[in-house]
Amino acid sequence: MCNCEPFASFILEATLSFSLSRRGLVLGASATALAACTPGGGEDNYVNVYTARHYDADRALYAGFQEATGVEVRALTGSAEQLLERLRAEGEASEADVFVSADAGNLWKVKEAGLFQNVVTPALEQNVPQHLRDPEGAFWGFTKRARIIVYRKDAVRPEEVATMDALGTARFRNQIVMRSSSNTYQLSTLAARIERLGAENAKAWAGAVRGNFARDPQGSDSDQIKAVAAGEAQASVCNHYYYFRMMRSEDAADRDVIGKVGFAFPDQAGAGTHVNISGGGVTAHAKRRERAVQFLEYLVSDAAQTMLAPLNTEFPIRPQIAPAPDLAAAGAFKEENIPLDALGRHQAEAARIFEEVGWS
Ligand code: FE2
Repeated sequence: MCNCEPFASFILEATLSFSLSRRGLVLGASATALAACTPGGGEDNYVNVYTARHYDADRALYAGFQEATGVEVRALTGSAEQLLERLRAEGEASEADVFVSADAGNLWKVKEAGLFQNVVTPALEQNVPQHLRDPEGAFWGFTKRARIIVYRKDAVRPEEVATMDALGTARFRNQIVMRSSSNTYQLSTLAARIERLGAENAKAWAGAVRGNFARDPQGSDSDQIKAVAAGEAQASVCNHYYYFRMMRSEDAADRDVIGKVGFAFPDQAGAGTHVNISGGGVTAHAKRRERAVQFLEYLVSDAAQTMLAPLNTEFPIRPQIAPAPDLAAAGAFKEENIPLDALGRHQAEAARIFEEVGWS
């Protein structure tokens, strides 16, 4: 009978799954007690990670961390919203040590809720560029993603989509599709613009782009690429990895879509392309703080960054580490450089602007 039950008090919602990285299994609620007991691992030799990432590459990271440190990663996956709600509900009793999510907007919400603790170490400071982490050390990026413009190759010349501003010009009247403004990526993109150029400029841009819509906002980033390929519009924006995932897809239909679509890193002659992160931080009530810090440091170490790069469709956080070959082939690009917490600070204002201009 097992008496090591760090997660015994957890009620696992049906929508969440408990992944036990060592065995490569994703276990449901009934497996809680099993997951809490790790034969041979030692009852204290683990760190609990709440993660909104669901990538196979992350399992390799967990295994790498365990190999390097002997510490097992116990990952609980769910959406960023679900995991934040859970963390909030658990309060001081939470067994989560690390919270990982994509998009600084999501991470900022955890910080705002007081559920991160600031951590600053030499290894983190050395390995994570200043604009890809929280200024106070609440969260640290370990991969980055770019917000790119996708366009139909037979209708648009690359120089016509060199800037985000271009999407709001008469050239693209009725030729733009976008996903909903409630999406974090959209909120972060506009929040970054508010930070750089002010709310008035951001509103003018959002209104101009909204005026060019070919249809009401709908679907995912991938759906925007498909709509452009299908001729519903000439251009859209998406996170770069959706484009690369379809390019790498085993499904011929996906590759056919990519055959019709080009992409551009916008604003290369100006402020640079908007970038965001996947990142993590140590939770406010971490029971295994030292191991949590160790895990964050591992994520940005030589070993982890080198291992992750070829498995991933995101860019390594460290400029010295080469990304996957197809990403490298896209060439180096200039990144927007703003403090990442701005994406959170301006999120509410971004939402208000979207609503005011009718970008649903
Ligand atoms: Fe995504």
